[in-house]
Amino acid sequence: MSTTGSSSTPFQSSHESTYNYNYVYQAPSESVPRKRRQKRRLVTILAAVFVLVVLIVIVVYFTAIRPKHGGNDSSSSSSSSTSSGSSTKLTIGGDGSIVTMEDGTKFTYNNSFGGFWVNDPQNPFNNNAQPNSFTPPLNTSWKWGVDRVYGVNLGGLFVLEPFITPSFFDKYAPAAIDEWTLSVAMANDTASGGLGQLENHYATFITEQDIAEIAGAGLNWLRIPIAFWAIETWPGEPFLAKTSWTYFLRVLGWARKYGLRVCLDLHAVPGSQNGLNHSGRLSPVNFLSGNMGMANAERTLYYIRVLTEFVSQPAYRDLIPVFGIVNEAMLGIIGRDSLTSFYLEAHNMIRSITGFGEGNGPYIAIHDGFQPLESWANFLQGSDRIILDTHPYFSFGAVDTSPMAVNDDKGNPGGKWPTQACNAWGPSTNSSQSAFGVTISGEFAASPNNCGYFLLGAGSQSTNPDCPAYDDYQNYNESMKAGISNYVLASMDATGDWFFWTWKIGPNGAGVIGTPLWSYQLGLQQGWIPKDPRTAFGKCAALGLTPNPFDGNYAGWMTGGATSTIAASSSQSFPWPPTTISGANVPVTLMPTYTSTGPVITLPPQTFTAAPSSVTASADGWFNAQDTAGGVVTVAGCTYPDEYNGIFTSSTPTAPCTGPTAS
Ligand SMILES: *[C@@H]1O[C@H](CO)[C@@H](O)[C@H](O)[C@H]1NC(C)=O
Ligand SMILES: *[C@@H]1O[C@H](CO)[C@@H](O)[C@H](O)[C@H]1NC(C)=O
Ligand SMILES: *[C@@H]1O[C@H](CO)[C@@H](O)[C@H](O)[C@H]1NC(C)=O
Ligand SMILES: *[C@@H]1O[C@H](CO)[C@@H](O)[C@H](O)[C@H]1NC(C)=O
Ligand SMILES: *[C@@H]1O[C@H](CO)[C@@H](O)[C@H](O)[C@H]1NC(C)=O
Ligand SMILES: *[C@@H]1O[C@H](CO)[C@@H](O)[C@H](O)[C@H]1NC(C)=O
Repeated sequence: MSTTGSSSTPFQSSHESTYNYNYVYQAPSESVPRKRRQKRRLVTILAAVFVLVVLIVIVVYFTAIRPKHGGNDSSSSSSSSTSSGSSTKLTIGGDGSIVTMEDGTKFTYNNSFGGFWVNDPQNPFNNNAQPNSFTPPLNTSWKWGVDRVYGVNLGGLFVLEPFITPSFFDKYAPAAIDEWTLSVAMANDTASGGLGQLENHYATFITEQDIAEIAGAGLNWLRIPIAFWAIETWPGEPFLAKTSWTYFLRVLGWARKYGLRVCLDLHAVPGSQNGLNHSGRLSPVNFLSGNMGMANAERTLYYIRVLTEFVSQPAYRDLIPVFGIVNEAMLGIIGRDSLTSFYLEAHNMIRSITGFGEGNGPYIAIHDGFQPLESWANFLQGSDRIILDTHPYFSFGAVDTSPMAVNDDKGNPGGKWPTQACNAWGPSTNSSQSAFGVTISGEFAASPNNCGYFLLGAGSQSTNPDCPAYDDYQNYNESMKAGISNYVLASMDATGDWFFWTWKIGPNGAGVIGTPLWSYQLGLQQGWIPKDPRTAFGKCAALGLTPNPFDGNYAGWMTGGATSTIAASSSQSFPWPPTTISGANVPVTLMPTYTSTGPVITLPPQTFTAAPSSVTASADGWFNAQDTAGGVVTVAGCTYPDEYNGIFTSSTPTAPCTGPTAS
């Protein structure tokens, strides 16, 4: 691929001048009538007066006010609305508006923060919606260091995890311990619908109402994990292929409607980047490690390329400003140098597609590899818009039974936990904003420990003796709720730009939410998550932490403001392919690799029935027409070790396999 600038035409944001709308304001639902003892006749009269006032308001609105909003000639579009009904009309709704979902059920949109949704069937890429008054609408660029991320993950939706949807793992216990084994067990269970159960989960676990509730909760971003099998699977991989993509697009439509920005998170890559159950398969790390380390990395780069081509399209780039290219790669196993080589290669590949500088494709988020933020200072200086993503948890260390339902010695609820969160995460996050660049917390939770049903994996249990109290949220007393609430506020304030893990936890086989402190939705309902996330401001200072303020100014290259050039010294130190791969039996030159000679995959775009093709045609799934390399496939005539263990079954190679002609 050549390193060219953006080859796209700028997105036409002024659709209003091109297309005609019927502009219909979705009026708020009536408020509940006040409870007053009044005689029946008076009520009737008042009701009549009310109806009359409403009628007058409607008449005045549609004759006098509406034309100002419509701005352009609406007469031609009104005729089309008679044939296809109200489904083709632009509708906008704020607090109290009624939303009708695809299946016909209705809900009331509650948003006390000034947010409003926009439903524009004739321009499904309308970016005017705003989740609240303190977040810029999607049509206005995000300013890192000024605008603040208040986000949640949609964990467990497209990449399954035992503790998020425990009912599946209960049902197929003990065989199902990760999505691989779950998929095998499901596929075998045709009586229950086989793998179709997963599609049913995609369709029902997160609905439009969830997305509306997220916007109504003062939040403004979603982090959405997806797996490589959203794009394709290869023979032998049991995952449900290409299905979650459709449902991902559906969620994107809702995110746009409610004005939520999206961080796309590639959470599971071929071979497993961390060996954890949420990488698809509980296994050794075979991404950039082991004999299949190069091959799996090449395939991963290909999927990153295909996703980049999709999210960089003008229709999507303002909706998806961040792309987390590999979740939680296990640096301790892979090694810092070869991981850096991979990130540099991914950066160069991505920018060759998107072009350099602000507005050209997404920010590239990389995970800290479970290493201190300080160790990432000065990483690839001069690179173009790389974000450092850290996942601050106290949950996965040694058992710590320090109490939560007590006050500390200054009378603050939460015992030592809130102060510990501020100290551990506050100063380091702010230092990283200057030393690395944009730094986000892509995951954190309300739990200080590893309690909870299947949190440690299907069938596993924590040894923390306090778990019965932490798990039984229905019996939390006020001290417990106050402690957790203070811990959450401290975590939010310390991390600055954050995404809670996760929005929703499904019930286990017994019908209970077994990891209550991992559900934002439950915490909102139960009171330990703030109704307004901005109330976290200043929490750490109030707890006595000496502030380490970040002034909000990034070096130009960190936010795409300056011409980016990575120093030659950096690229020389981190060649691609890397000089060594950990855990392999052969040198990198003899390792199995793939070839880019297959047909390339273009991710299917969404189909919109009411929109003219002039609006949707450019969003065909592929941004840069000059990116014409093929898709990654096996080299004909070569045999490969198992993708998830890398063991050479016949003989250890002594020469690189380049196909039948070379052997
Ligand atoms: C909005 O608030 C009303 C009244 O409290 C409630 O009935 C409704 O379920 C809420 N809507 C959502 C989407 O939560
Ligand atoms: C962006 O959206 C806002 C509504 O949130 C609208 O008022 C404004 O005109 C839009 N700007 C552009 C450039 O489309
Ligand atoms: C497949 O399902 C059958 C019952 O339909 C069951 O007896 C068998 O153990 C299952 N095999 C696996 C591998 O789950
Ligand atoms: C499974 O994933 C959970 C998080 O979902 C993690 O806590 C646990 O350590 C993982 N277990 C294994 C064995 O990977
Ligand atoms: C980090 O910097 C921001 C912006 O200056 C500030 O509001 C916040 O208090 C700082 N956090 C810490 C822990 O010092
Ligand atoms: C509240 O609950 C916690 C956890 O069960 C317990 O340790 C604590 O003693 C309780 N506090 C009060 C005041 O009852």
